[in-house]
Amino acid sequence: MAHFPTEFLDEVLARTDIVELIARHVQLKKSGNNFMGLCPFHHEKSPSFSVSADKQLFYCFGCGKGGGAFQFLTEHDGYSFPEAVEYLAEKAGLEVPQSLAPDSGDQEKRKRALALLEQGATLFARALMSQEGKAGLDYFHRRKLSQDIISKYRLGYALPGYGFLEKVLGRDARMQAQLEAVGLMFKGDRGYVDRFRARVMFPITDRRGQVVGFGGRILDQGEPKYLNSPETAYFHKSDLLYGFSEHRDEIRSRKLLVVVEGYMDVLAMAAHGLPVGLAPLGTAIGERQVREILRLHAEPVFCFDGDRAGKQASWRALERMLPVLSSDYGPRFLYLPEGEDPDSILQREGADAFVQRLEIEAKPVLDTWIQGLKNLAGSGVEGRARMAKKADAMLAVMQDDYLRQVWRQEAEKVTTLKLKAPEASPRKPHPISRVASLATPNQEKFLAALLQKPERIRPLLLDQNVFFLDDDGLNLVYTRVLELAATNTGVVQALLLEFPQEERIPLWASQSDISDEEYEKLELLMRERHLHRLCKKPGTLEEKTYRQEQWKKISEKLKKVGH
Ligand code: UTP
Ligand code: MN
Repeated sequence: MAHFPTEFLDEVLARTDIVELIARHVQLKKSGNNFMGLCPFHHEKSPSFSVSADKQLFYCFGCGKGGGAFQFLTEHDGYSFPEAVEYLAEKAGLEVPQSLAPDSGDQEKRKRALALLEQGATLFARALMSQEGKAGLDYFHRRKLSQDIISKYRLGYALPGYGFLEKVLGRDARMQAQLEAVGLMFKGDRGYVDRFRARVMFPITDRRGQVVGFGGRILDQGEPKYLNSPETAYFHKSDLLYGFSEHRDEIRSRKLLVVVEGYMDVLAMAAHGLPVGLAPLGTAIGERQVREILRLHAEPVFCFDGDRAGKQASWRALERMLPVLSSDYGPRFLYLPEGEDPDSILQREGADAFVQRLEIEAKPVLDTWIQGLKNLAGSGVEGRARMAKKADAMLAVMQDDYLRQVWRQEAEKVTTLKLKAPEASPRKPHPISRVASLATPNQEKFLAALLQKPERIRPLLLDQNVFFLDDDGLNLVYTRVLELAATNTGVVQALLLEFPQEERIPLWASQSDISDEEYEKLELLMRERHLHRLCKKPGTLEEKTYRQEQWKKISEKLKKVGH
C-alpha cells in the first residue's frame, strides 16, 4: 500500500471538511456540538449517526461504524485508501507526491482504464444523439424514456460496424490492448473488434459512480438480447448492482428499495418517479449483493417477473439470502402476473398501481420460502419428505438462531414432520480486534478521556513516572497516543490510520465528555494498577521499597477521591 507521510495526510485532513463530505449523502441536522442524521451504514428510523466538525469524525451509535474523512470514503464509497487520499488531496488543491506511492504503477493503470471507460460512455452517449444514432434514440423513445432519463443514466448507442471507438481514440496496438482490458474490444480471428455494435448502451457504475462496464441491448430481434461487459479487473458483476450509485441516496430518503431483474425495469421505475430500483447484471443475485442491498435498506422488495425464469431467480435469491438473514431484516418478494415485468406493468398501470402492488402483494420472505418448498415437493408422501430434506438443508445455512427456530416451526407445520436443523450454529468468531474488551472498562474509559481531550496527554508524557496499561491491546494504543502527542499530529486521526481494525477509536473519541474530575480518578486508577504490577516484579530491596511507598501513596489518594 502506498505510504503517505503523516504530514501530508495531516495537510489533506486539515483542508477537508468532513461535514460537507458526508452531507452530500446524509441529511445532517445540527444538534449541540455535532450533526446528526440517519446512518448510511445501516438501516434506521431515528438518527444515531453523528458527525463532529471539531473532531472531524463520524460515529454511529447504532451500528458502531466510525472514523474520519478517509474512512468515510473507503467504507461508504468503496475507495481504496490511496484513492481516498488522492481524492481529498485533489479536492483540497494539493498535489499527491508521485514518488511517495510505491504502487503508483497500478494506480496509474487503473486511472487510465477508468478514464477510458468514462470516455467510452461519453462516445456512446454522443453517438445516440448523432444522425447515425437515430435508431438508438428512436428505440429509447419507443420504450418511453425521456431525454432527462437518457441524460441522467448516460444512455448511449454503439454504432453498427467496426472501428467506432478506434476512430476516435486511435488505432494503435496499445489503445487496442487497453480497450480489450476494459472489455470494449475483443480479439477475434481477424484482429481486434468492437464488442458492442448496433446496441443501445447502458453504462454500469461502481459505488462512487465511475463507469466500470456496460450492458448493451440489441434493437430488434437477435441473440443475445443483452450483451454485458466481460469480467475485467475493473468490472466484477457479482459485486455490482445497476442503479446503485444513482439511487443510493434516494433509497435512503424514500425508505423504499425494489430489486428488479433488468436494466429497463430500473429505468422504467425512474421514469415513473421511482428512482429506487436496483438490478443485478444478468447474473443471479449473489450473497455479496444481498448484503449490500440489506445494508442499504432493511426491507427491500424483490420483484420478479411472472414467468418460470422469474420463479427460479427468486428461489436462488432466497437461497443466497439465508446466511445474511436475521430478525433485523424484513425482505419481501413480489411476483408479477405471468408475462409481465416492472417495466410493462408501469407502462400499463402507472406508478401508483405498481406501488400498491409493492405494498399489498409483496409477501414476507418466510411465506415465499414455504410456498417455494411446496412447489418443489409436489404432492404425495415422498413430496413431504423431499420438502423436509430441502428445508433442513436450507435452515442449516441460516446464521440467526431465533429466526431459524421460527422458520423451522413453519416448515414443520407444512411437512408435518420433525426437522433436524440444529438449534444453534457454531458462533462465528468476532472480527479480529487487537484490543481486548469488557474486562477493562476503566482502562478503556481512560483512553477515551484522552482522545476526547488530547490536551490531557502531554502532562502524562512529561511526568517522570510514566505509567502503562496492563491490557496489552489497550496499551498498544495508549503508548501510540503518548508518542503521537509528542508530535503535532492530530492524535485521533493518526490512530484511525494506524489501527484500522480497532473500531472503538471513533467511539472513544465521540462518547459524551468525560469530566476532568472523573478523568483525574481514572488517571489515579491507572497509576495504581501500574505500580501494583511493578510491586510484584523482581528488583533490589531499595527498588521494591520505593515502589511500595509510591503505591501506598497513590492508593491513599484514590481512597480520598472515593475509590
Ligand atoms: P429480460 O430478458 O427479462 O429482459 O432480462 P428485460 O429486462 O425485460 O428487457 P427488455 O424489456 O426486453 O428490454 C433481464 C435482464 O437479464 C439480463 C439483462 O441484465 C437484462 O436486463 N440479460 C437478459 C442478459 O444479460 N442477457 C440476455 O441475453 C438477456
Ligand atoms: Mn422488459
